[in-house]
Amino acid sequence: MKLYIIGAGPGDPDLITVKGLKLLQQADVVMYTDSLVNEELIAKAKPEAEVLKSSGMDLAQMVDIIVDRLKQGKMVVRVHTGDPAMFGATMEQIALLRKENIGYEIVPGVSSVFASAAAVGAELTIPDLTQTVILTRAEGRTPVPELEKLRDLAAHHCTIALFLSATLIKKVVSELVEAGWSEETPVAVVQRATWPDQLIVRTTVGGLEADMRSHGIRSHAMILAGWALDPEIHGKEEYRSKLYDKSFTHRFRRGVK
Ligand SMILES: C[S@@+](CC[C@H](N)C(=O)[O-])C[C@H]1O[C@@H](n2cnc3c(N)ncnc32)[C@H](O)[C@@H]1O
Repeated sequence: MKLYIIGAGPGDPDLITVKGLKLLQQADVVMYTDSLVNEELIAKAKPEAEVLKSSGMDLAQMVDIIVDRLKQGKMVVRVHTGDPAMFGATMEQIALLRKENIGYEIVPGVSSVFASAAAVGAELTIPDLTQTVILTRAEGRTPVPELEKLRDLAAHHCTIALFLSATLIKKVVSELVEAGWSEETPVAVVQRATWPDQLIVRTTVGGLEADMRSHGIRSHAMILAGWALDPEIHGKEEYRSKLYDKSFTHRFRRGVK
C-alpha cells in the first residue's frame, strides 16, 4: 500500500514526466494542488477517477482521505506543482502516512526554477563565473534558519533562485546589496513559467522593485539573480566551458590540434 507523490511540472501539461503521466492515467484517486497544477493535466486522469482538490483541505483532511482510499485498495496519486522536493510540504504528509504504515514513492517533476531558466534561455552555471545555484526563499512570515539569511547566502555571489518571494522584494534587494551585489547585477523574473500567460521581466538588482511593481507581479513568480542571467552572456568569450574546448581532453574525447 503506497501513495504516489508526483511532480506535475511548472504548468505546461506536456512537462510532466512519462512516468508521472502513466501513474496519473492509472490512478483511481487523484488529489492535486488546484491553485498551481494545470487542470488540462488533471483531465488526463481516467474518467471514472475520483478527482479531489487539496486547496480547501487541511493536512489531516487530506491524509484521512488518502488513507481511506488506499485502505479500500485504490491507487492514489498526489499531484504537486513543479518538483515535490522544492517547497512541496510533502514531509508533513509522509509523516502522517508513516503512522498508518503507508509507504510512498516520489516521482520527480520539472521545477519552476528550471522551467524559468529555460524560459529566459539561461544556463545557471557558467564556467569561470559561477558553478553554484542556491535555491531558497526570502524570509517573510515563514522564517528561514539563522544560518540561511539571504545576505549570508548571497555572499557567495553565485546564481540565486528565489521561490515564494514576490511580495518580499524590498527585503530581497536590501539583502543582496548588503552582501555586496552591485545594482547592475542581472535579474530575470518569470511569472507563471510555461503557462499561456507567462511573463518575463529582465531587470537588475537596482531595478527589481520598480519593475515588479510596474508589472504587478505579486505571486507565482521565480526570481533568478546573478551574472549568469546577463542577457549578453552568450557574447562573452571568457565564459566558454572547458568541456567543449578544443585543447581540453577528457575520457571520451582526445584533444584536437
Ligand atoms: C509552494 S512553491 C512550489 C514550488 C514547486 N514545487 C516547484 O518545484 O516549482 C510555489 C512557488 O514556486 C514558484 N513557482 C511555481 N510554479 C511557478 C511557475 N510556473 N512560474 C514561476 N514560478 C513558479 C513560485 O515562486 C511560487 O511562489
